Amino acid sequence: MAALRYAGLDDTDSEDELPLGWEQRTTKDGWVYYANHTEEKTQWEHPKTGKRKRIAGDLPYGWEQETDENGQVYFVDHINKRTTYLDPRLAFTVDDNPTKPTTRQRYDGSTTAMEILQGRDLTGKVVIVTGANSGIGFETAKSFALHGAHVILACRNLTRANEAVSRILGEWHKAKVEAMTLDLAQLRSVQHFAQAFKAKNVSLHVLVCNAAAFALPWTLTKDGLETTFQVNHLGHFHLVQLLQDVLCRSAPARVVVVSSESHRFTDINDSSGNLDFSRLSPSKNDYWAMLAYNRSKLCNILFSNELHRRLSPRGVTSNAVHPGNMMYSSIHRNWWVYTLLFTLARPFTKSMKEDMNVRPSRAGILSVLLTAAFSESGTVPCT
Ligand SMILES: NC(=O)c1ccc[n+]([C@@H]2O[C@H](COP(=O)([O-])OP(=O)(O)OC[C@H]3O[C@@H](n4cnc5c(N)ncnc54)[C@H](OP(=O)(O)O)[C@@H]3O)[C@@H](O)[C@H]2O)c1
Repeated sequence: MAALRYAGLDDTDSEDELPLGWEQRTTKDGWVYYANHTEEKTQWEHPKTGKRKRIAGDLPYGWEQETDENGQVYFVDHINKRTTYLDPRLAFTVDDNPTKPTTRQRYDGSTTAMEILQGRDLTGKVVIVTGANSGIGFETAKSFALHGAHVILACRNLTRANEAVSRILGEWHKAKVEAMTLDLAQLRSVQHFAQAFKAKNVSLHVLVCNAAAFALPWTLTKDGLETTFQVNHLGHFHLVQLLQDVLCRSAPARVVVVSSESHRFTDINDSSGNLDFSRLSPSKNDYWAMLAYNRSKLCNILFSNELHRRLSPRGVTSNAVHPGNMMYSSIHRNWWVYTLLFTLARPFTKSMKEDMNVRPSRAGILSVLLTAAFSESGTVPCT
């Protein structure tokens, strides 16, 4: 405070104010240290904030730095003909803490979506979220929209998509949200979606490949492929392929592929280590729903990694993320056994419904998604 008064500034209750008995001093080479007159000790760290500081800038006009017979630095003000041990620049120090790199994790499982996007103005950003009418996709779309982004909810059922749009508008009537039809189980629908999106002539800054099918009985799509594989992986693969030019034109842009931890529990290679295509889209006899899901999620990660390798030099990053385990979305709806399991696990996992209706999202999930969508580093590992 003495330094502030000295510099002609008012006292404040700033965190930098020294406790009684402490004094700030400087070394010859501009480092700030703190002397405690009661305990007769000195230290580099500010006694309250723990920060290290150094002097910034030159001495004011007419001032000179000298050293007394004890080696202590003092300052001579030639204009007003006085000396002082206080560096006149002490009021303008800057933090310097090179010994403490910032290893603190910025986000964790209890970070809210709002915390992640706090201070972000996403106006002008265009975001597509697939499967955005429910669960994680809805939360993601909503969070982007409430921060000003133009969000397109890419869903297979337009009625459900429009209901989701209304829910977001109910939270903020100025949100820029719209629904478009995208059925990932039909390559033709993916192509129509891409054409319709391109006709809007807008950029694309974030593409979240979120939609998924889980625990389906064996069925083939109109394109003749096993449905889980096509919806979860191939449909998204095709979508990114078709929108790749827009993404590159909009760089910096990002693709986020929502995968799952369960990708670990499978393999898509045969016994000699080669890719086994029959495992990707198996016949009815070789089909087990859980395995099909796990394989599609493994494809998500392999695809995301390769996409990142190919497009990051052009300013488009890709991240695959695991959102969390057994969150009570509607993902379990295809088999009552899963519904039962998800219901039992519900008290111990994140609840989408609570997140949406009651309080800001406890969104480890969203933290991962949004960190992936906005992190500068480019890769959020799916491990
Ligand atoms: N919940 C979890 O515990 C968990 C764990 C790990 C990973 N994940 C991943 O998180 C992502 C989101 O899942 P969620 O939990 O939010 O499940 P969800 O509530 O069931 O959401 C899935 C979304 O995908 C859409 N979808 C399904 N088939 C589609 C198709 N053919 N074309 C377009 N959209 C389609 C669904 O639309 P409809 O409403 O029309 O069916 C729905 O909007 C998925 O990728 C999932 O694998 C979830």
